[in-house]
Amino acid sequence: MVNTFSRSTSGHYTRKGLNFGSPKSPRVGGHRKTWVSRSFHILVGCSLLITFVLAMGCGYVYVFPSLTQAFHGYGLSKDSKPVESNGGGTCDLFEGNWEPYNGYPLYNSSECPFAERGFNCLANGRKDNDYLKWRWKPKNCDVPVFDVRVVLERLRGKRVVFVGDSMSRTQWESLICLLMTGVEDKKSIYEVNGNNITKQIRFLGVRFSSFNFTVEFYRSVFLVQHGWVPRIGPKRVRSTLKLDKLDDISKEWSDSDVLIFNTGQWWTTGKLFDTGCYFQVGKALKLGMSITAAYKTALDTWASWVETTVNTNRTKIFFRSFEPSHWSHWSDQSRRSCNVTQFPMSETEGRDQSPFSDIISEVVKNMTVPVTVLQVTSMGAFRSDAHVGPYSDMPAVADCSHWCLPGVPDVWNEFMVSFLLAEYKLDL
Ligand SMILES: *[C@@H]1O[C@H](CO)[C@@H](O)[C@H](O)[C@H]1NC(C)=O
Ligand SMILES: *[C@@H]1O[C@H](CO)[C@@H](O)[C@H](O)[C@H]1NC(C)=O
Ligand SMILES: *[C@@H]1O[C@H](CO)[C@@H](O)[C@H](O)[C@H]1NC(C)=O
Ligand SMILES: *[C@@H]1O[C@H](CO)[C@@H](O)[C@H](O)[C@H]1NC(C)=O
Ligand SMILES: *[C@@H]1O[C@H](CO)[C@@H](O)[C@H](O)[C@H]1NC(C)=O
Ligand SMILES: *[C@@H]1O[C@H](CO)[C@@H](O)[C@H](O)[C@H]1NC(C)=O
Repeated sequence: MVNTFSRSTSGHYTRKGLNFGSPKSPRVGGHRKTWVSRSFHILVGCSLLITFVLAMGCGYVYVFPSLTQAFHGYGLSKDSKPVESNGGGTCDLFEGNWEPYNGYPLYNSSECPFAERGFNCLANGRKDNDYLKWRWKPKNCDVPVFDVRVVLERLRGKRVVFVGDSMSRTQWESLICLLMTGVEDKKSIYEVNGNNITKQIRFLGVRFSSFNFTVEFYRSVFLVQHGWVPRIGPKRVRSTLKLDKLDDISKEWSDSDVLIFNTGQWWTTGKLFDTGCYFQVGKALKLGMSITAAYKTALDTWASWVETTVNTNRTKIFFRSFEPSHWSHWSDQSRRSCNVTQFPMSETEGRDQSPFSDIISEVVKNMTVPVTVLQVTSMGAFRSDAHVGPYSDMPAVADCSHWCLPGVPDVWNEFMVSFLLAEYKLDL
């Protein structure tokens, strides 16, 4: 099923051919337009508070990619460097399938104040709970058990930083909820500025005071700088993404122990060109540049920032690949619907491929410092059952992009933690 996607892109990981097959840990186991009308966009874009919006990126509050489907089947050339064989077969955590598992879920979102209401599907009326009971089974090994006590101890004194869009925020929430299950005194865990979670907030930091660590989130949906432009170019250009400049809040990221990045959902014509946002490199406007070419340029900027700014002796770096969505498209392509299924799909229907994920892999492979790519595209491609759908805080607008919590983002964290503990020993 997933065997078309057998790369293990962390050069680091590949080199060592790490085997996770520890015998100690067998866990057997309404079609609406979702964005506000374009005229509203333009109104927001041109009249509203330049200073405020500077911080917000090009589009509207929510992540609703409109281009993802168009990319499907757009297979870019892939390398298939297998992990070196290692006795009982090589372990590629990201190649496998979903199996029923009664040990999930690992927490209850209603008891986790850091799981936002919009992702708490059960609290928002979802009745079936099969979607909570699937575990990812890599082909030749197991995803190690999330042992909350061990993880809490290992994180003592550390700073964990997530950077990216709302998918990153979801993973941040998931990690906090997972960790909270191991802490008796829930009041010892708090947002450092007393802020509530909102969709556009630029920074959130949750402190586990009895373990002396924080888990932080920086909203940076493109990772590179976004800015409004004076009327220099054509009128339609209202703002630009400066592909050669990393986001100006990036200075806040480097002094950390674990850094987890993502970007992808905002790289769509709907969120870029349709809102008057175009690309810029240096002083030059790049009006004809394609989105994938721009994405590659932005990731190169990110890569050199990592190489020159981050002390990778201390900081462990992850980049999470693109999160597939599950919109159904009608024949005329202009309308789409969101049909959350009861069970995972048996076929990925091309959703296991993403040009963004391919670019991430290529860029990371070329880097001079170790970066681990969390390859979640393929495994997520089956999970048409795990999206928020109508069970959000805005039930009128079904959502086949975001994921329910608990759910798939918990598995992203299980991947990350297994790398931290095994590969890096977290001996930071
Ligand atoms: C989650 O917690 C809430 C509040 O404590 C409770 O009402 C609900 O039954 C729990 N859900 C599950 C699935 O355990
Ligand atoms: C908490 O962690 C920091 C490092 O992040 C360390 O400098 C400090 O001594 C720790 N505090 C305690 C009380 O352990
Ligand atoms: C957070 O939300 C709670 C409950 O809705 C509210 O009472 C509180 O004032 C909010 N805090 C901030 C800082 O907005
Ligand atoms: C990282 O570790 C290597 C080998 O121990 C050392 O040569 C290098 O100077 C270190 N770099 C930094 C920035 O500390
Ligand atoms: C939604 O998916 C179910 C299968 O899970 C299928 O039976 C149903 O026809 C689908 N509905 C639409 C509108 O596509
Ligand atoms: C990787 O580096 C080589 C040599 O510097 C370069 O030719 C190639 O284009 C780079 N590939 C990517 C994906 O950046």
